[in-house]
Amino acid sequence: MALTAPKSEAVRAMFTRIAARYDLMNSLMTGGRHHAWRTVAARETVAAPSGPVLDLATGTADLALAVRALDPARAVIGADFAEAMLHEAARKPAVRSARITLLAADALRLPFAHKTFAAVTSAFLLRNLEDLAKGLEEMRRVTRPGGRVVTLDITRPATPVWSQVFSVYFHRVVPAIGAAVAGDRQAYTYLPTSVDRFVSPDELSSLMRKLGFREARYRRLGLGTIAIHTALV
Ligand SMILES: C[S@@+](CC[C@H](N)C(=O)[O-])C[C@H]1O[C@@H](n2cnc3c(N)ncnc32)[C@H](O)[C@@H]1O
Repeated sequence: MALTAPKSEAVRAMFTRIAARYDLMNSLMTGGRHHAWRTVAARETVAAPSGPVLDLATGTADLALAVRALDPARAVIGADFAEAMLHEAARKPAVRSARITLLAADALRLPFAHKTFAAVTSAFLLRNLEDLAKGLEEMRRVTRPGGRVVTLDITRPATPVWSQVFSVYFHRVVPAIGAAVAGDRQAYTYLPTSVDRFVSPDELSSLMRKLGFREARYRRLGLGTIAIHTALV
């Protein structure tokens, strides 16, 4: 299902609608595996030189929490343009005790100076962006030289048979769960469609290199359904 233009507005409205059920849906759709994937991304993130970390599109702050769990000394800022998602994040006792700073910001116009962060990370953001190259450029702009950009997202498995099975699950089962649990079939129909339309992991790595990132690489997890990209600035 395509979102009506402008995409950013439709994406923000969608996450505002599903915010209260977002965490529960993630656990149901992935059998609870999503936390382990964020931990792998967090491990890549804390390999950055010392300095603050920006978790972009932090949503309910699970990746920000994973970074703090591995590196309690890091200052972590979670930014997102859907205030309802930030509200869910702020309700979590773990977010309060970890002193994660939450703020409203658009990934395409970040309110930070150049070279502010040692690392910028994002989970499940990139395929939602209106302008992928602009989003990557903003991530690069606010990262210090020598710092890291780490992204995590769902991707189509490379194996054809498994890709078919994944497609049936994602296009038939996930929207039904979304309708039953989140009361929003549309949001969970957009999810598999956005994955289908997104660039492949190889294409994303190429784009990162073209934009000036160094040592862009990725690894797959979750039976090939998750790609974690890491690059240096
Ligand atoms: C699928 S959720 C991921 C949330 C969180 N990173 C996680 O790991 O669960 C996508 C998030 O991206 C945010 N988002 C999408 N486009 C954005 C943009 N242009 N600027 C800031 N946040 C954005 C949405 O509001 C939503 O909270």
